[in-house]
Amino acid sequence: MIDGDRTGNMHEPRKLYVKSFGCQMNVYDSHRMADTLAREGFVETQDPAEADLVILNTCHIREKAAEKVYSELGRLRKQKQEAGSDTMIAVAGCVAQAEGAEIMRRAPVVDLVVGPQSYHRLPELLAEARAGKRVVDTEFPAEDKFDHLPAPTRAATRSRGPAAFVTVQEGCDKFCTFCVVPYTRGAEVSRPVAKIMDEAARLVDQGVREISLIGQNVNAFHGAGPDGTSWSLARLMERMAGIKGLARLRYTTSHPRDMDDDLIAAHRDLPQLMPYLHLPVQSGSDRILAAMNRKHGRDDFFAIIEKMRQARPDMALSSDFIVGFPGESEQDFEDTLDLVRKVGFASAYSFKYSPRPGTPAADHAAQVPEEAKAERLAELQRLLEASKAAFDESCRGRTFDILLEKPGRQAGQLIGRSPYLQSVVVNDPPAAIGDLLTVTITDVGPNSLAGIPAEANDTSVSQSPASSALSRPLAAMEA
Ligand code: 5AD
Ligand code: SF4
Repeated sequence: MIDGDRTGNMHEPRKLYVKSFGCQMNVYDSHRMADTLAREGFVETQDPAEADLVILNTCHIREKAAEKVYSELGRLRKQKQEAGSDTMIAVAGCVAQAEGAEIMRRAPVVDLVVGPQSYHRLPELLAEARAGKRVVDTEFPAEDKFDHLPAPTRAATRSRGPAAFVTVQEGCDKFCTFCVVPYTRGAEVSRPVAKIMDEAARLVDQGVREISLIGQNVNAFHGAGPDGTSWSLARLMERMAGIKGLARLRYTTSHPRDMDDDLIAAHRDLPQLMPYLHLPVQSGSDRILAAMNRKHGRDDFFAIIEKMRQARPDMALSSDFIVGFPGESEQDFEDTLDLVRKVGFASAYSFKYSPRPGTPAADHAAQVPEEAKAERLAELQRLLEASKAAFDESCRGRTFDILLEKPGRQAGQLIGRSPYLQSVVVNDPPAAIGDLLTVTITDVGPNSLAGIPAEANDTSVSQSPASSALSRPLAAMEA
């Protein structure tokens, strides 16, 4: 195919392969990088071997995540050598930000290192790299990158499906003692409401039906409103709920400290806001929560959950956990298990504590031995899996809307997402990708559910009150 770039030159389009590691923020950033480079004549490919430019959008949150970058770079070096290709290699994201110089030293194959605040500069940085310079840009520039990152084309939005992310806030001022984010992503900054609204309205106009507002500390959002005052996340979502055609809203990731009453009330008042909340608690032990600098105790967490379930009885929860934080005793760990049993999570992520250079906890004398961490993680994951399985099972026979997102493995199948982000497979649905379909859950598997279109007179759970299965105490879930 022949194509032209914005300079008017006609040539073969250059191919771009972007690989995202880590969180949804990186997925969003990868899209924005691809949108920026589309203007330079790049088209995306799923095959790194045919790419003219490979971007690894990296994650620094745990050591394992950071090490993945170096093994991926090793693979790329081999591939480049074997093919004798001149593919350019760029490293973006949080590892780029945290250890740009180190990447250049350890991986001579890398042409360009670019930190998350400089993505709008990619075209000029690439030009420098193409001229033979090895470029590192990990500045926190004064200008706002969002003002310079182009919006996606209709075709790009379509190819990414009907559920989209919009960044509303970046960075973190909380300084949990285990976490690198305040260092890699910098201080908390919220985008202005008007810019977020424009981006959301454009996405919906291009066919998006569900928007997840994302930020490292999304519920600390305090963007400048059109009236000159600072708007909360709840107020922003109330405004967004007015966008015609936007069927669903979500937000992630939240901190318990910023779970204000107006945000909880938004779950009661906005039908578009899904009854599902990812609220990392990290530990169930007050002692460890204090050492982590989380600035709340386990009872505060229970109180939030209680209020949430009162506001929205069909609310389901997910969370993040860290085991083996320095000084964590058996009793502390038992407290975490107890919290999990009491809350009953629909889903969760759990990790072994990973000391991150430059964070306070990394220098703590009482590091937990690797073996104990591994045992605790296995035990916690058994419990969380039982909790998830019980939640999934409680969905059998229930009726709710799913947003159809992609084709299934077999002909005629489509896969959609439930309000709780479960994948739901439907055979021969009387609907297309991008539609909401009301289904009744007929089967529950380990990774997905199956559903059939509901009878016309069924009501959707997203509008209906409590299901007893959801507020069931977790004692029953350990089986
Ligand atoms: N070690 C282990 N897990 C971590 N997380 C963040 N930092 C670390 C660390 N140093 C986990 C937290 C956070 C999630 C995104 O990653 O649970 O919520
Ligand atoms: Fe990291 Fe804590 Fe900030 Fe979350 S709130 S990004 S865990 S420092």
